[in-house]
Amino acid sequence: MAAEVEPHLFVILGATGDLSRKKLIPALYHLLEDRNLKDRCHVLGSSRSAVDEDHFRKTARESLEKAGFPVEEVGEWCGAWTHYHSLGESGKEFSSLKDRIEKLESELDLPGNRVLYLALPPAAVSGAIEGLGDAGLNRAPGWNRIVMEKPFGRDLDSARELNVLLRRFFKEDRIYRIDHYLGKQTVQNLLVFRFANTIFESLWNRGHIETVEIAVAESLGIEGRGMYYDRSGALRDIVQNHMMQLLALVGMEAPPQFSSRYIRDEKVKVLQSVAEIDPRHVVLGQYEKGEIGSSKVSGYREEEHIPSDSRTETYAALKLNIDNWRWQGVDFYLRTGKRLSRRVTRIVIRFRKPPLCLFKHFSGCILNSNHIMITLQPDESFHISFDVKKPEEPLRLKTENLHFHYKESFGPIPDSYQTLLLDIMKGDQTLFVRADEVEASWSICAPLLDAGIPVHSYEAGTWGPPEAEDLPPPKGGWLPFDS
Ligand code: BG6
Repeated sequence: MAAEVEPHLFVILGATGDLSRKKLIPALYHLLEDRNLKDRCHVLGSSRSAVDEDHFRKTARESLEKAGFPVEEVGEWCGAWTHYHSLGESGKEFSSLKDRIEKLESELDLPGNRVLYLALPPAAVSGAIEGLGDAGLNRAPGWNRIVMEKPFGRDLDSARELNVLLRRFFKEDRIYRIDHYLGKQTVQNLLVFRFANTIFESLWNRGHIETVEIAVAESLGIEGRGMYYDRSGALRDIVQNHMMQLLALVGMEAPPQFSSRYIRDEKVKVLQSVAEIDPRHVVLGQYEKGEIGSSKVSGYREEEHIPSDSRTETYAALKLNIDNWRWQGVDFYLRTGKRLSRRVTRIVIRFRKPPLCLFKHFSGCILNSNHIMITLQPDESFHISFDVKKPEEPLRLKTENLHFHYKESFGPIPDSYQTLLLDIMKGDQTLFVRADEVEASWSICAPLLDAGIPVHSYEAGTWGPPEAEDLPPPKGGWLPFDS
């Protein structure tokens, strides 16, 4: 594994921000330590903050200690492998960044391979791409990879503009658009589950499947990110990216080869086949104060930086259809929300009932449909439900489950950022979103942003607004979240 990662400089723009401190630095350290790659990667943090290198190293060390890594080890790494360069008050001194990069590469005897990771607020992204490009940092003596965090645009037009801007300076095979859901082991496992097992793939179509439910429920609120979230909302924050990725992986055809090009070709085809969503099949909501577990939580409009008249949605439920051969007539239900009763991300594939109920003459004998429940978090697992006869007379059926729990078989699962960072270092784009994919998913979601869909209230700690029950219900009803 170590041989696949070439020595490089990992440049983080926005290195003093939350994403860098809480996610990137700990994930980088863990990955490099775990895989014995420390000597192949030097980290250069950069931001407009006028802090010096010692200060940057100190904050990096603190975030690693907070993440639970041993004090002495992280101290050594931060002292020798992390560096800092300020982009000046304007945040635009990219030529000086270029000089620093070249100097470091020569001092550290690095071959000129670079990762440029934009961990920046959305408003700063275009300026940084231009700044890097104009300073000539779109070229490198070795390889050069630029990493874009979500959100990628605010709507279809802005996503297209961002793609045009990126392509002015970088080729598509140098661009890594992150959707951290793709780094989750269970999400990647969807492909293995589907395409390495004949028993599932042969049933994976409209002939056998009645509905597909994709749910991303969170008990957390907006966690101090009011400024970002109020301009975003659930459709932009979760549906357009994470849920569209899950939809694409559930719906795609088998690629001709397991390669980034072919997998992404198939994903984009599914997204391009999604029929225009009827706004009447969309329910939006915003949480009011309530109780989660035994804790009282505030309503969305009481959160910091949220205007008291905000109508930003923190919940979205919708029904869509995929107009292609495999999925014609199958309803897909997507539901996501913050401050719901508990955290669960899962996909439920519900099969059609048998064509005939042989047991209908036995009173109380109800035939259930089989389902496969793929839980992505927090308890990564698969459950397959089926009916059995209860050992008693008269004949009665009971639904039982076959279970598989990841942790039981494999122990703790790596953080998604570690997976994604390693792939960036190796140059594998499979788990990153291509330009046409991001535009296809915006084409699905953007019309809903301007459709004037009402935003209903729901109490924190419930499963969303009661109006969601008015969506045309899945045949066979919703599978309760608590099941
Ligand atoms: C992020 C969203 O992309 O995903 C957050 O911006 C959300 O609002 C988070 O909480 C959910 O990620 P996970 O991995 O906890 O399901």
